[in-house]
Amino acid sequence: MLSILSINCLSLNFPLSSPPSPAMVKPMTGTKVTPDTLRAMKARGERIASLTAYDFPMTRLLDEAGVPLILVGDSLGMVVLGYPDTTHVTMDEMEHHVRAAARAKPRALLVADMPFRSYATVEDAVRNSQRLVAAGAEAVKAEGGRGILPQVKAILSSGIPFLGHLGMLPQHVLEEGGYHVKGKKEAERHALLADTDALVNAGAFAIVLELVTPPVAAELTRTIPIPTIGIGAGPDCDGQILVTPDLLGMLPWYSLKHVKPRLNAAEQIRAVVKEWKDSVTAAKCSEPAHATK
Ligand code: KIV
Repeated sequence: MLSILSINCLSLNFPLSSPPSPAMVKPMTGTKVTPDTLRAMKARGERIASLTAYDFPMTRLLDEAGVPLILVGDSLGMVVLGYPDTTHVTMDEMEHHVRAAARAKPRALLVADMPFRSYATVEDAVRNSQRLVAAGAEAVKAEGGRGILPQVKAILSSGIPFLGHLGMLPQHVLEEGGYHVKGKKEAERHALLADTDALVNAGAFAIVLELVTPPVAAELTRTIPIPTIGIGAGPDCDGQILVTPDLLGMLPWYSLKHVKPRLNAAEQIRAVVKEWKDSVTAAKCSEPAHATK
């Protein structure tokens, strides 16, 4: 028995030749951003606007908008993969998304996060940072200061540029029982100063300060020669970084104090999808689908 379905309702609205593949998109032109470019921006008093990306199109779009530092963050776990926090992200997942982002061949410096437990020892840190570089990262970021100094020094000695991350450390969310602002207590301020000093002396090219009180973030920014990039750390850092889906309003199920979405992407996607779905379901077929025996 042969069943033939009528496809009268279907129409092709794209040319029959294949659409261009990402590999056919021309690479960005212009001077490549390096860690030195970012240090020079601080020296000139230029602010550094940084964002996260996890795939080819977003990396390409951020790059075309002129963002000089793009981070394939382990926020991937929450904003793309649906995990409750970043402690679930694996090296394989990071590599997969770094490869996708790197195919955009950005002018921006492409930094990859080292996921939870991937830098527990010096050997792990070197092996896993090399894996991320092989996937296309041009620098790596890991959370912590004096506590991971041997790992940071080993990464730098292997020739991989290092971006620090101090303040609230999302990979410590389980042991700290939540996401807490750092720098309110004098002991926290002292710890931040000492950790910052350690990372600067080791050779980090910049430091992300997450949820650090604005006066302490300003003090750190004034006292070190490399850029500070703040997230929820007030206006006086050398740069700012945001998780791009938060900036675009992609995740309407929570709100954050430090980000005011500049777009309501979630609402717009729902509306467009509903309108398209309604147009499909409302269309009449010229002949009903039929089956012949
Ligand atoms: O994972 C990430 O996106 C980050 C930024 C929030 C700095 O670490």
